[in-house]
Amino acid sequence: MKFKVMTLFPEMILNGLHTSIIGKAVDNNIISIEAVNIRDYSSDKHKHVDDYPYGGGAGMVMSAEPVYNCYMDICSNENTRVVYLTPTGHTFNQEMAKEFAKEDELIFLCGHYEGIDERVIEKIVTDKISIGDYVLSGGELASMVMIDAIARMVPGVLTNDESGCEESFENNLLEYPQYTRPRVWQGMEVPEVLLGGHHANISKWRKEESIKRTMKYRPDLLEKAQLSDREKQFLEKYKINL
Ligand code: ADE
Repeated sequence: MKFKVMTLFPEMILNGLHTSIIGKAVDNNIISIEAVNIRDYSSDKHKHVDDYPYGGGAGMVMSAEPVYNCYMDICSNENTRVVYLTPTGHTFNQEMAKEFAKEDELIFLCGHYEGIDERVIEKIVTDKISIGDYVLSGGELASMVMIDAIARMVPGVLTNDESGCEESFENNLLEYPQYTRPRVWQGMEVPEVLLGGHHANISKWRKEESIKRTMKYRPDLLEKAQLSDREKQFLEKYKINL
């Protein structure tokens, strides 16, 4: 899968995504990440990419033309989805990461200053996405978050050991707690059930811990989780004792 990022800070994208699982996937040619500098497409002799906002107000707005020229240069297929990172978009989630991972290529547009001239957004953007209810200084970190989450869902990026099927948000539950050696650390013991090697009991315990955690931290998710009758009873009892 190809990720192409239109940005004023290409080194930020490239430096940030070349480690760990994503870096390895790039090295193994499972994914590619290209970052293109919008400033290179400015026709202004001082390479300006922004201007004052019509109607007044604080800050500067990125001009339509360099963004459009950049897009025209890197877009080899007009069906490629173009994602604009903005706090005004739909909130990103794991389901969307899986959907985007089915594409062969994605283009990301990172804004800066007070945003980008709306006309070029109307012209080229297919998806407006926010990564959460807070404002970042630009779209770069948001695009990196999205690329990381999407790339992990591309077949071959995670090994079996790292597999995404028991992670948080699978079936709208948060992941259960994990433990490793030593068995006792600072007086705290690993839960007994994990030591016995009884797989059915371990699975049951993990599912119940997931349910408890989700109830505590993300009760909004639990409404969409598919639980067996026994698990529903467990949840009801847990709620009573909360
Ligand atoms: N740019 C600035 N803030 C953002 C956010 N929360 N999500 C995506 N892009 C952004």
